[in-house]
Amino acid sequence: MDVDCRGTAALMLLLVLFNYGASTAHGHDAHWGYEADNGPDTWPELCKTGTRQSPININPSFVDYANIPKMHFVNYNRSHAVTLKNNGHSVTATGFEKWPERPYIYGGGLDGVYELVQFHFHWSALDHQGSEHTLGSLSYPLEAHFVHLKKGMTLNESLYSDDGLAVVGVFFAQGNDGRPLRPLERSLQDSYAFGGGAEIHNFLPFEMLPENHQVFYRYNGSLTTPGCNEAVVWTLLAEPVTVTEVQLNRLRKHLSTSGRLLTQNYRPVQPLNGRRVLFRPHNFDLMFASGGAIYQMSKALVGFLSLLLLTASLM
Ligand SMILES: *[C@@H]1O[C@H](CO)[C@@H](O)[C@H](O)[C@H]1NC(C)=O
Ligand SMILES: *[C@@H]1O[C@H](CO)[C@@H](O)[C@H](O)[C@H]1NC(C)=O
Ligand SMILES: *[C@@H]1O[C@H](CO)[C@@H](O)[C@H](O)[C@H]1NC(C)=O
Ligand SMILES: [Zn+2]
Repeated sequence: MDVDCRGTAALMLLLVLFNYGASTAHGHDAHWGYEADNGPDTWPELCKTGTRQSPININPSFVDYANIPKMHFVNYNRSHAVTLKNNGHSVTATGFEKWPERPYIYGGGLDGVYELVQFHFHWSALDHQGSEHTLGSLSYPLEAHFVHLKKGMTLNESLYSDDGLAVVGVFFAQGNDGRPLRPLERSLQDSYAFGGGAEIHNFLPFEMLPENHQVFYRYNGSLTTPGCNEAVVWTLLAEPVTVTEVQLNRLRKHLSTSGRLLTQNYRPVQPLNGRRVLFRPHNFDLMFASGGAIYQMSKALVGFLSLLLLTASLM
């Protein structure tokens, strides 16, 4: 996920989340990125010393299935304006706090209500990498992060809380169906330059989510950008949506703070350090009711879904 920055983390996070960062914080922003001299290996503080860092590789054999309740995506079916902007690290969409009916999530094992603040993307120039999280060490070409802030907290408070932020990750497999990103596709051309952007008048969050958004992985992690605050409850939707080659190529035309092509903006996977990854299967409740066979069935289902996902990522 794409939030800023060490030292004055709180202020910078505020700036980037609400997207004033691009114009006011150039000097400060410029010191981290994804290039040789400022890439993930050079990121300081928690990015180096943390113990629950993100992203991670999800290895099916280390996943526990769990009876997590259904996750509610409220007002994700409303449409309103968002502002698309190149902040030098990604393309972000902000403005949800101005919606008359602001999107938020609850349930799904989350403690409380989390309001949508922004979403953004991670990609690379190559089709076989780009997503931050990987499944069985395989990458999708694109991953979107929907960043939610715990209701009642300030952004600064959220950064120093175990579960101040809830990020929903959506994987994109390459395909012919461009519907999930169609609302952004044209506007992406206006945000190639650092600081560039566009207004999208009727954005409907559900269009970017897979049809089945109740099958997901869950773990405790961090921001994937400096200062790598360990404040994120991650929800990774297992079913990917699709992105076309044209759309991917538009994302790949974005320029970084240094004015060079942002050819990749994903952080490599981080050690699990004993963390558990939970998996919410589609019909867990049904299986739970059926009693004894549950263990085997769930194991089989996890394996099967993983295989499906890996297959999808290769297509
Ligand atoms: C959104 O979903 C809610 C709850 O399912 C429903 O009551 C409402 O009519 C939907 N709104 C739109 C615009 O589809
Ligand atoms: C942010 O929160 C931390 C921890 O609660 C606190 O130490 C720091 O002073 C706060 N910063 C600002 C700018 O409020
Ligand atoms: C995340 O951390 C909280 C608080 O420590 C804990 O209750 C929860 O079980 C953890 N979640 C996972 C998936 O490990
Ligand atoms: Zn991100």
